[in-house]
Amino acid sequence: MDVIETVKKRKSIRGYKPDPVSREVLQEILELASRAPSAMNTQPWEFTVLAGEVLENVRRSNVALLNSGTPPNPEHVVVNWPKESIYRQRQVDLAKQLFQLMDIAREDKEKRAKWLERGFRYFDAPAVVIISTDRCLSESGPLLDIGAVMQTICLTAVHFGLGTCIEDQGVAYPEVLRKYAHIPESKRIIAAIAMGYPEWDFPANKVATEREPVRNVTTWLGFD
Ligand SMILES: Cc1cc2nc3c(=O)[nH]c(=O)nc-3n(C[C@H](O)[C@H](O)[C@H](O)COP(=O)(O)O)c2cc1C
Repeated sequence: MDVIETVKKRKSIRGYKPDPVSREVLQEILELASRAPSAMNTQPWEFTVLAGEVLENVRRSNVALLNSGTPPNPEHVVVNWPKESIYRQRQVDLAKQLFQLMDIAREDKEKRAKWLERGFRYFDAPAVVIISTDRCLSESGPLLDIGAVMQTICLTAVHFGLGTCIEDQGVAYPEVLRKYAHIPESKRIIAAIAMGYPEWDFPANKVATEREPVRNVTTWLGFD
């Protein structure tokens, strides 16, 4: 598939068909994505691919911790936007769009809680890739490389007809992944990617996120 078409087609998918994704396809995606660039070719990413019973155990434990009020304990903190900032505003805009599509009223605490749970269940995707990095590396050092490999995974998945959603929610309870996915303490857990065949009729998959016009975030110099 043409690269421009693939970039345009990729979007975060939050509703999946139950059909499994074969190990062969997942392997090919990870092999292709490993062509992503990294600083000095250090390739500081490690993948733990979950499906089946292990994934069900992880989902169940994530939801149990969430519902028991256990505070998330991520090893890479994503959620920290200043209150009055444009970043917080964009987060609110996304949530509003998703809630509208999912018919969740602002004051409907039960439906909101159910929606939150879905994130901690990896949106019921049949496969999940957990990305970790070695703790011998600096905290911020591997993040650019991991960003590159994650985007390449998501784009390559489109080629195979798969949908993805990068998730920090999915790694909010690292203790669950250590227990069921056997990720050792020597690895810092960075993010999860939910993956599966999109259920296109699922309302949240109709979300159309906007982007700031490039002119607002770009400085051109020396072009006259
Ligand atoms: C680092 C990172 C963490 C994310 N975490 C979540 C998450 O926990 N839950 C979720 O629903 N989406 C998550 N997303 C998806 C973003 O919400 C999504 O990429 C953004 O809204 C743009 O929409 P698009 O991917 O459909 O283009 C995450 C994306 C990134 C890059």
